[in-house]
Amino acid sequence: MIPVCEPTLRGNELKYVIECVKSGWISSSGRFIKEFEEKFSSYCKVPYGISCSNGTAALHLAIESMGIGHGDEVIIPTFTMIASCNAVIYSGAKPVLVDSEFGTWNIDIGKIEEKITKKTKAIMVVHTYGHPVDMDKLKKISSKYDLPIIEDAAEAHGAEYKGKKTGSLGDIACFSFYGNKILVSGEGGMVVTSNKKWAENARKLRNHYFGEPRFLHQKIGYNYRMTNIQAAIGLAQLERVEELVSARRKNAQIYNRMLRNTKGITAPPEAEWAKNVYWMYGILVQREFGLGKKELVAHLEKSGVETRNFFIGMHKQPAYKGADKRFPNIGGKYPCSDELEEKGFYLPSSSHLTKEQIRFIVDCIKLKSVKNEK
Ligand SMILES: Cc1ncc(COP(=O)(O)O)c(C=O)c1O
Repeated sequence: MIPVCEPTLRGNELKYVIECVKSGWISSSGRFIKEFEEKFSSYCKVPYGISCSNGTAALHLAIESMGIGHGDEVIIPTFTMIASCNAVIYSGAKPVLVDSEFGTWNIDIGKIEEKITKKTKAIMVVHTYGHPVDMDKLKKISSKYDLPIIEDAAEAHGAEYKGKKTGSLGDIACFSFYGNKILVSGEGGMVVTSNKKWAENARKLRNHYFGEPRFLHQKIGYNYRMTNIQAAIGLAQLERVEELVSARRKNAQIYNRMLRNTKGITAPPEAEWAKNVYWMYGILVQREFGLGKKELVAHLEKSGVETRNFFIGMHKQPAYKGADKRFPNIGGKYPCSDELEEKGFYLPSSSHLTKEQIRFIVDCIKLKSVKNEK
């Protein structure tokens, strides 16, 4: 089976983990945490980095560090992984859903304004599957309404908008280092920002808001700490980030080239101002392919190729049925999200995928399309 995604652990990961074990620094203090925070935030070209236990925790910390909570609203794309939506709910605020657009598979910026109310406190965007959001367009709206931008960059390490890295594009950004991400630490996340006050808040919230004196707490915080072992893996990954990002991009180019003439297969977008890092190489199966997505996925599975379906919009989540004031309004019309869900899935996307493996996967797809034409 060619897995849909595996981590590429080919640098100093083991050496650094051994150092943690030998030195006894296995919990949430130690040299790797500080170094990972400093080096990752500087990679994103922002001054502050606050590591934490995962990307969901990073989002939650970011939102609360900005002072957003009960009674507030945060705009998010409906087409995302549920962590983006849940993090808003954890803070007590309500996510307000906006459809996506086919050009980038990201939030439809043209549809944001109609969702802004007096309660709106921030706009959270997701750089979906590694493609950055059109920030100039977004910033016109955020400036007009004086709303900060939260980047959910969980899937977009190293992606760029007009030469600027994700993480530095909005006011605060969150990354995930889960095992299938471009940069991994096992589990792990990071908040990055240029806002000193938010950074200090996030740092305290991450660790129970310990105060002065130590056991006097001014706020309810969390245990969202990253371990030195996770940071050790993260740092080893960061040393090779350029290689990992360019491998993702190179694989996407090979897929694009090999799939170019396959009728009915839409390749992932890359706007002319964007550097897509193709966290996952997603495709859409159009009617002209002659075969539905389900059948193609089943055929790939039988041939030994693992795939994963696209997100199901937040407006369709049973978890949000009920009278809780924090839940997003569900059941509205989000045609782009629905179509992406219906037609989209991703192909194996590990950084160390070989050209031969891609050739095999594409041959499986092409064989099915040819057979189908007969
Ligand atoms: C868009 C998006 N946001 C947030 C997260 C949450 O990250 P984690 O799994 O590290 O909590 C993910 C994870 O896959 C994601 O894809």
